[in-house]
Amino acid sequence: MSLPSCTLPHLPVLRDETIAALHIQPGGRYVDATFGRGGHSTAILAKLNADGQLLALDQDPQAIAAGQALAAQDARLHLYHAAFDSLALHIDKLGWSNQVNGILLDLGLSSPQLDDAQRGFSFQHDGPLDMRMDTTCGEPLWAWLARVDERTLANVIYQYGEERWSRRIARLIVETRTQTPILTTSQLAALVARAQPRVDAHKHPATRTFQALRIFLNRELSQLESVLAQALTVLAPGGRIAVISFHSLEDRIVKQFFRRHAQGDSFPPDLPLLAQEITHPLRLVGKPLQPNPAQIQANSRARSARLRVAEKQSTS
Ligand SMILES: C[S@@+](CC[C@H](N)C(=O)[O-])C[C@H]1O[C@@H](n2cnc3c(N)ncnc32)[C@H](O)[C@@H]1O
Repeated sequence: MSLPSCTLPHLPVLRDETIAALHIQPGGRYVDATFGRGGHSTAILAKLNADGQLLALDQDPQAIAAGQALAAQDARLHLYHAAFDSLALHIDKLGWSNQVNGILLDLGLSSPQLDDAQRGFSFQHDGPLDMRMDTTCGEPLWAWLARVDERTLANVIYQYGEERWSRRIARLIVETRTQTPILTTSQLAALVARAQPRVDAHKHPATRTFQALRIFLNRELSQLESVLAQALTVLAPGGRIAVISFHSLEDRIVKQFFRRHAQGDSFPPDLPLLAQEITHPLRLVGKPLQPNPAQIQANSRARSARLRVAEKQSTS
């Protein structure tokens, strides 16, 4: 007998550490740009008083539907179906520009998304090859796989999955689709496994390819770059941004963004500038945090999580 999909709740990753790092002011204005099932949002709301406010976004309509009950009973929560690259727009509408005290990004997928076979994110559940976080727009993966050229496909698998067998995988997908359309997660996972002459004993052979296609289809890295830049403009002086990432590509973007803005503008060394003329819009807060063994045991999906925090400086 198979278990029904969507059985696991979402356990918020590094919840207490994130809430502590945000230094929540009870009457402040906060943003949870990745609402999911509201685990972090609920913890933020618990720290706010009656004047505190929380803007929460998620591009997945199912996440928003699941959060409606909480929004209905708590007027401090403003919950919207939107991708987080519209952050500044939402902040403008609320009249919160330069007044946001904290922003949280808990990137990637929620457990309900991964566990629901119909969403097509996981090679462990057979289902339609959709993979869109926002099912109300865009092209499902099966449709893109039916039309993409081999070279582009190989590049996507290499660039976003760091998959060494990207060319062989792309070739087999393109050859196969001339005979049979590739429509399901198990079809794709089997093809990806077949294309590899050697596999890593510790990783399912489809892991990197599924990650790559998901990142590409949902424009995850460009969304992240865009929201970080917007966060810098909407934060109040002293406001903090906390980002939990789950793979090296997104962590690198966060690390480099924080470092670049904590070191300030780069000028030629011989340019006559006073120290106070060099702007450092961000200050790094602590070292990156990873879950401890007990947290990983309780929630294996937390194993690759990394939390980085930065604070907006008052001089910018
Ligand atoms: C790891 S889950 C967040 C879980 C949440 N912190 C909780 O405790 O329930 C990530 C969520 O972010 C959403 N998401 C990912 N990228 C997004 C984007 N660019 N814009 C808006 N939401 C996004 C996903 O749909 C998913 O629901």
